[in-house]
Amino acid sequence: MDVGPVTVPDILERKISGKKITALTAYDYSFAKLLDATEIDIILVGDSLGMVSLGHENTLAVTLEKMIDHTQAVKRGAIRALVVGDMPFMSYQVSVEQAVTNAGRLIQEGGASAIKLEGGTFMADRVQAIVHAGIPVIGHIGLTPQSVNQFGGYKVQGKNYFDSQKIRQDANDLQNAGIFALVMEGIPGELAEEITAKLKVPTIGIGAGNKCDGQILVLHDLLGLNQNFVPKFVKQYAQLADNLKNAVSEYILEVRAESFPGQEHTYRSKKGQLKQVND
Ligand code: KIV
Repeated sequence: MDVGPVTVPDILERKISGKKITALTAYDYSFAKLLDATEIDIILVGDSLGMVSLGHENTLAVTLEKMIDHTQAVKRGAIRALVVGDMPFMSYQVSVEQAVTNAGRLIQEGGASAIKLEGGTFMADRVQAIVHAGIPVIGHIGLTPQSVNQFGGYKVQGKNYFDSQKIRQDANDLQNAGIFALVMEGIPGELAEEITAKLKVPTIGIGAGNKCDGQILVLHDLLGLNQNFVPKFVKQYAQLADNLKNAVSEYILEVRAESFPGQEHTYRSKKGQLKQVND
């Protein structure tokens, strides 16, 4: 097992060593601490927070303040994995200056070691300016959830020649702008494989086949905690929602039957000490 904190150069080096990058999302201290005790390389405080933890129907309502709060919580739990803060909708689209200022807040206030933002060619100037400020950036192209309204839903991108050319161009322009890794989401596996082979920076896939340099999933999807729609690209490695419901049902039964708390969970006073002594 690798020791010491995972760094940006460590992630870049994976392109050469070929050891796959593993990444998961987390939004709070407890889960971050559990993940950090594994060999996971990257913990992304994703703006999927909005859907997974806050119950919104998409990620658009998430604010920078919320991302900073949750990044702080994750950072308290993760001392080994690389913590990456996600730039929420409208925190970088307005101008280059806005993007640099807000990326700086995720690092300075949130405690992230790097940031991720969505978008390709159109965001290359933001990426370059943020990198020039000394902040490492992960790009994110393909099915970028913040553009859900433009896409008309969560649809696989790059399925024809014209669309795939745009994604190739996005990847290239982001690499030239200085990203150290690229998330590719919801694109055909062959396209992801081709881009991975061409880029010098590592790619991290989600719904992009197994030929990327690494993979990322939403933690709650992997754990089977998400009981809503499960997309094709998700594999549930556990069924924690069922476990959780079974545990809570058992608790309810035991409370009703007075079998919880048992003697072993109950504090006792020394014999006679609770009685008032009158004489
Ligand atoms: O917000 C998020 O969780 C993400 C990953 C799934 C890539 O952007």
